Amino acid sequence: MLTWYDRSARRLGWRGQVDPYRIWVSEVMLQQTTVAAVGPRYTRFLTRFPDVQALAAADWGDLAEEWAGLGYYARARNLHAAAKAIAAGGFPADSVGWRALPGIGPYTAAAVGAIALGEPVVPLDGNVERVVSRIFAIETPLPAAKPALGRLADGFTAQPEMRARPGDFAQALFDLGATICTPRNPACAICPWRPDCRASALGIAATLPRKSPKTARTELHGVHFALTDAGGRLLLIRRPESGLLGGMLALPGTPWRSTPWADAEALAHAPVPELDWQPRPGFALHGFTHRELTMRVLAARVAELPGGESATLEQAGRSLPTAMRKLLPLI
Ligand code: ADE
Repeated sequence: MLTWYDRSARRLGWRGQVDPYRIWVSEVMLQQTTVAAVGPRYTRFLTRFPDVQALAAADWGDLAEEWAGLGYYARARNLHAAAKAIAAGGFPADSVGWRALPGIGPYTAAAVGAIALGEPVVPLDGNVERVVSRIFAIETPLPAAKPALGRLADGFTAQPEMRARPGDFAQALFDLGATICTPRNPACAICPWRPDCRASALGIAATLPRKSPKTARTELHGVHFALTDAGGRLLLIRRPESGLLGGMLALPGTPWRSTPWADAEALAHAPVPELDWQPRPGFALHGFTHRELTMRVLAARVAELPGGESATLEQAGRSLPTAMRKLLPLI
């Protein structure tokens, strides 16, 4: 696999360096977003926050703006908190140390450990789970199979070839999973693991890893209030620190709950309930990992907004999180 990687590695912006800050940022971005989408955003992020001191010193608002469209803001919050810890106390020396920082789970700690620090650890992401489940023909469905897949992946650390190049080994697994050992039509004929791959020998590679039936996403419903002034400025609020979109700018709204809101009931949550609130036609839908949010909009106009945050529609289109941006066409 390493010989294959030397020939076939994808040329990606974060490759060929061992700066732990840069590796860490790339891995956090890649948890949510595709390799193709991360490319330009990664470069832009590092231009704005070139090192961990710059990130630690940044205003949260600037970081949140830079993170727009990159998925969960909780990740950016943790990135910020961990950057502050590192700016104060230095970079951890190994993956165990990384694991102790805010928001760093076993995957990120192992990825930084292997790629930036050369530690013989194997980061277990979806690609690696798939490759390992096939090499060893593990038919137990995910997520139950995960601990066993982790132990099998750790077993690679016994091999001297792996220990000589842990970062390349991890990234070779990622690239193999992305280009050859793909979910639907694995290209077993050209795979460097083929002689040792049990699933390929059994002809079941494409069916692995098996997965337990998904539990349906729970529904959430909310009504949001578009209050605009004569100049077209829109009233915004900052959401509470905890929960979905914690600490982010948003349109004021009802809580999100499992049953739809009637307009009259929603109005109790309006910023100025006595105004003439008009329902706007249509819905906006936003999927979170385990939830599907359906939002409606009630709109009203005032001569002057009550105090607080506000933005033009154009500014809102740039600075709101994706879920909230989806409301703007309804307005
Ligand atoms: N997915 C997660 N981390 C990655 C990396 N370093 N290279 C390619 N794909 C990845």
